[in-house]
Amino acid sequence: MNVLTVDGLVKAFGGFRAVDGVSFEVEQGSIHAVIGPNGAGKTTLFNLITGHLRPTSGTVLLQGKDVTSRPPNVMSRRGLTRAFQVTNIFPNLTVLESVECAIDARKRMSGSLLPWRRREGREEALELLDAVGLSEMAETIASTLSHGDQRTLEVTLALATRPQILLLDEPTAGMSPWETERMIKLVRELTRSRDVTVLFCEHDMDTVFSISDRLTVMHRGRVIADGPPEQVRADEQVISVYLGRKEHA
Ligand SMILES: Nc1ncnc2c1ncn2[C@@H]1O[C@H](COP(=O)(O)OP(=O)(O)OP(=O)(O)O)[C@@H](O)[C@H]1O
Ligand SMILES: [Mg+2]
Repeated sequence: MNVLTVDGLVKAFGGFRAVDGVSFEVEQGSIHAVIGPNGAGKTTLFNLITGHLRPTSGTVLLQGKDVTSRPPNVMSRRGLTRAFQVTNIFPNLTVLESVECAIDARKRMSGSLLPWRRREGREEALELLDAVGLSEMAETIASTLSHGDQRTLEVTLALATRPQILLLDEPTAGMSPWETERMIKLVRELTRSRDVTVLFCEHDMDTVFSISDRLTVMHRGRVIADGPPEQVRADEQVISVYLGRKEHA
């Protein structure tokens, strides 16, 4: 079953089409990567999907329902969320407090935040931190975490909203090899045990090919290939415009 369908999406900035007629489908429970060289339009595409930008034309369907141009909070309530830079949101809170805040926000949106339920929020936050491997950092101020731990916390906060589909823009950028490995494990674990569908864009090809069920390849705003990793890896056009380029090899 498709959880997300993007159909003919276009985003023009003046006369320039950063996203130029993109269509693809994301299957429920899959790990789906969007790859492509710098400037291909990946981040713009994600902003169109999450409602941070309005498309010039085209549609976004979430579980078959047209959600084109719905604002991010509505998308989040409908189960689609993305990870954001934690240091922008909760600079002075501890890791545990940040996760509790995200859980509170979810409950407030669903109208189920009652004073005697706060303890449950803390328990859920501790469980979540345990699941993502950040328990030891619970009392650390979020903004003082290492880069890798901050990115992991971003994913954790997004998870606190209990998304059905989670968008990650370059989740392993700037991470050390072991932090990258931990993120890969986390993403795998999410799709398996929490039934979250993950749509991510990423430059690190080892990460992409090791975890993706499906890949959509963009180049100059357009999709040039879409399919399982082995098919995409062998695609001549992909090899010539992308994988063959040394800086992305
Ligand atoms: N607000 C904007 N106004 C004008 N042009 C923009 C705007 N946002 C993005 N662009 C342009 O659209 C193109 C696609 O940018 P985008 O950030 O989506 O690429 P990307 O695939 O995410 O690249 P990267 O891999 O470097 O993150 C680029 O040429 C960029 O300069
Ligand atoms: Mg980008």
